[in-house]
Amino acid sequence: MKKIAILTSGGDSQGMNTAVRAVAKTAITKGIDVYGIKRGYKGLYEDQIFQMTSLNVSGIADQGGTILLSARLPEFKDPEVRAKAAENLKKRGIDGLVVIGGDGSFHGAHYLYTEHGIKTIGIPGTIDNDVAGTDYTIGYDTALNIILDAISKIKDTAISHERTYLIEVMGRNCGDLALYSAIAGGASGVLIPEVEFSIDDLAEVIKFRREEGKLYDVIIVAEGVGNVVEIQKELSKKVNTSIRVTILGHVQRGGSPTAFDRILATRMGVKAVELLVAGEGGLMVGIQSEKVTTHPLSYAWENYSKSSFADYAIANMLSL
Ligand code: ADP
Ligand code: F6P
Repeated sequence: MKKIAILTSGGDSQGMNTAVRAVAKTAITKGIDVYGIKRGYKGLYEDQIFQMTSLNVSGIADQGGTILLSARLPEFKDPEVRAKAAENLKKRGIDGLVVIGGDGSFHGAHYLYTEHGIKTIGIPGTIDNDVAGTDYTIGYDTALNIILDAISKIKDTAISHERTYLIEVMGRNCGDLALYSAIAGGASGVLIPEVEFSIDDLAEVIKFRREEGKLYDVIIVAEGVGNVVEIQKELSKKVNTSIRVTILGHVQRGGSPTAFDRILATRMGVKAVELLVAGEGGLMVGIQSEKVTTHPLSYAWENYSKSSFADYAIANMLSL
């Protein structure tokens, strides 16, 4: 393995830069030429590829976003688009590619390996924590802590005005950000896609809290459960409290990564290069029970099971 490339793809996440740095520094130290690809698969297809030096990754371990830029290219599902992208690597003699992204990005990496023999290694980078084969994705911990900070702030004003707040958090179809921020933030309730809920039950929670003398509510709503404003409207018909909605949005994806995410990104980045040096490809790196693990890329989506998560009972408890 003499030449490898790196790209970041899909929604960015805090710690992607830390992972890029770990991959580049590890490879350069081993005498491997490292290429950066701008704008994910879009840049790979459009040949936006440049040789990196250690200067490109100097001082970025603590920076949010991604210096390689990220993009989505739906056309990458087309085999002809992938063939042109693979050719852009082959013509430079690049035979290893590290893809930092979520399970969508891993699909692309899987096809580059199976169809064109490019030795791809996936590093899970997304705030959603929706990738099987790893307990945590890079960026999840940072986003979780941003949500916790927001919950504390909203709680202050919720108490002052004796209001009900519905806080919408990201996560696509995965309820992890919502569930675990609700647990750690001491929320009054949580709605996640993995657990059925009814507006009537939610109204009962609020009424019960008033009976207990609690004059405010902070309820976390995963974006995957549906339109939070519609939920607000329906709930308003059933309770007398003043209800406000806060959609946290992209603030959850920015800022400096936590120590946890930086260390995770570094461990995964080093492992990705070690795998390429060993001649491996078509694999993803994960962290499971504190250990860095590897699985075929397809493991990420084939084994993703909403019901396999342990703490959904807590979601039921919080929403009753
Ligand atoms: P994430 O990687 O965070 O899950 P997306 O689902 O948006 O984000 O996927 C990122 C990119 O990965 C897409 O824009 C596309 O270029 C590529 N991709 C996603 N799904 C596939 C697929 N089934 N086949 C090939 N490429 C895919
Ligand atoms: O996958 C990361 C994520 O932030 C999701 O939580 C969210 O649904 C989506 O990306 C938002 O995407 P966009 O950047 O296109 O608004």
